[in-house]
Amino acid sequence: MLDNTNIKASIQSRLRTRFIGQQLYYYPTVTSTMDIARRLATEGAVEGTVVIAGTQTAGRGRLGRSWLSPEGSVALSVILKPPLDNLPQLIMIASLAVVKVIKKAIGLDAQIKWPNDVLVKSKKVCGILIENEVKGCEVDFAIIGIGINVNFDPIAFPEISNIATSLSHELGRAISEDEVIIALLYELEQLYLAAQTGAPIHQEWRDRMETLGKWIQVRTGTNLEQGKAEAVTEAGNLILRRADDSYTEIVAGDVTVIKD
Ligand code: BTN
Repeated sequence: MLDNTNIKASIQSRLRTRFIGQQLYYYPTVTSTMDIARRLATEGAVEGTVVIAGTQTAGRGRLGRSWLSPEGSVALSVILKPPLDNLPQLIMIASLAVVKVIKKAIGLDAQIKWPNDVLVKSKKVCGILIENEVKGCEVDFAIIGIGINVNFDPIAFPEISNIATSLSHELGRAISEDEVIIALLYELEQLYLAAQTGAPIHQEWRDRMETLGKWIQVRTGTNLEQGKAEAVTEAGNLILRRADDSYTEIVAGDVTVIKD
């Protein structure tokens, strides 16, 4: 069993990135990597700083929910400082990077559920939380938090076992969490740099979006909308066509599929 310093060194020595993960913090247990990353970012951490946790005791999800991070999961946060124009692409970059890692490093097909859940065989294997600090026309920092269910038995967690799965469960064998992290940081950096040179990230993200074309229900706060998921905009918003043929653009929400 590697100690904390060695886990960090072992990951860093195998990194294939230029800047993401070159500053890396590893904690066996933290409340939330988002909290640590935010503190580091406000203290002036360099772009690409990564915070990794073995487990989280107060992992945070989207829309104020909590996120389960038992042993065997990957939980990390990455500090980035993109130009303001590229900010909307972060959700696309993050979910696409996870889809690519699952295919290239593990050999499984994964899809994206709007806005940025990653599914394998229609069950969630990854959640992504993005928090930004924008001052005027400049991004002070953005934090991408990624949680991947790598090596655990979903059946042992009744609160999520209906809707979530893990990579090891789908593959039928254990997977190196370090390898997932190393591959993930590489794919993130590739996509992040590509986005800034105008690569068609939005198109790739849309092509992986299993939500499109389905009849769905979207909960946004106290509001509930139903309709057909028609498209996603360049800013990442969902265009929904209601039963009366009117359209609405949704910025954030929770999707449930009613009919394929
Ligand atoms: C969601 O699907 O609701 C988003 C889940 C995001 C979880 C990750 S795990 C690493 C980082 N730290 C957190 O507390 N949350 C994110």
